[in-house]
Amino acid sequence: MPTLYDQAQSAVDYLRSQTSISPRVGIILGSGLGSFASQVADPVIVPYAAIPHFPQSTVVGHSGQLVLGSIGGVPVAVMQGRVHAYEGYPIAEVTFPARVLGLLGCTTLIVTNAAGGIRPDIPQGSLVVISDHINLTGTNAALGPNEPRFAVVPGAGQRFFDMSTAYSPALRNIAMQEATRQGFALTEGVYLAVLGPSFETPAEIRAFRTLGADLVGMSTVHEVIVARHMGISVLGISLVTNMAAGVTNETIHHEDVIEIGRRVERQFTSLLTSILPQIPAV
Ligand code: HPA
Repeated sequence: MPTLYDQAQSAVDYLRSQTSISPRVGIILGSGLGSFASQVADPVIVPYAAIPHFPQSTVVGHSGQLVLGSIGGVPVAVMQGRVHAYEGYPIAEVTFPARVLGLLGCTTLIVTNAAGGIRPDIPQGSLVVISDHINLTGTNAALGPNEPRFAVVPGAGQRFFDMSTAYSPALRNIAMQEATRQGFALTEGVYLAVLGPSFETPAEIRAFRTLGADLVGMSTVHEVIVARHMGISVLGISLVTNMAAGVTNETIHHEDVIEIGRRVERQFTSLLTSILPQIPAV
C-alpha cells in the first residue's frame, strides 16, 4: 500500500511532468472566488481529475482545476475549488492538495473561503483576514502516523506542532496595510469551522459568538493544520457571503455565496495581487 506521502509524491511527479514552474505560493480559492485564477500569467491548467490521487469537488461554484503560472512575477499554484469533509471525503483526502502544494515547493499558502458572519459589524460582502481559528469539526487532519518527510522547512514535520501563530502575523500585517493603502475596510476575525453541510442553528451561532468566533465556515482549518505541520506560512482570507443564522432574519442560501463572490471579485483580486509580491521568500 503506498503511503499518503508516496501518493502526494506521485501527484507532484505528475505535475512536474506537465510544467517546469516551481510555485512558491499556493492559493486555494473558496466558493465564489474561483475567478481569481484568471490573474495567472502563462497558465498551465491541470484538471484535478488528471492528477494522481487528487480528490474532486462535487459542489456548485468549485470548478476543480489547478492553475500553475505566475502573478506579479511570483510563481504560484492556484487551486480553483477544493473538496470538503461534508462531501464525504476523509480528512486525509480533503488535505491531500495542501500536502501536494507543499511538496511542490510552496512555502506560503493563501487559503480563502466563504463564511457566515457572526459579528454584526462585519457585514455581508466584507473580506476578513483570519487571525486564528476554532476547530469544531470533531477531527484533526494530522491524525495517524506522523510523516516527517512532509516538512518543507527545517524543524517542521513533527508529531506535535505549534498552532499559536498558525496565521502568520507578518502576512496578516501585509494584508491589513495593503487594504489601508487601497482604501477599503479590512477586519481581522476568528474563523470557527464546523463539519456542515447543514448551516448552523441560531442557538449554535450564539454559542459560537460566546466562544469568541467572528466567522463560521466548513473548510480551511484542516488545510491550515497540515500546512503548519509542514512548516508552510499561512494567510487566510474569508469572504462574508451571508450573516450567520439568527444574526439577521434572513435564511441562508448557497446561491448567495456565489453572488456575493461576484460582487467583491475586484477588491479581492486587487488585494491578493498586491500582497503576492510582498510575500517574503523562505
Ligand atoms: N455557515 C457555514 N458555512 C458557511 C456559511 C455559514 O453561514 N456561509 C458560507 N459558508
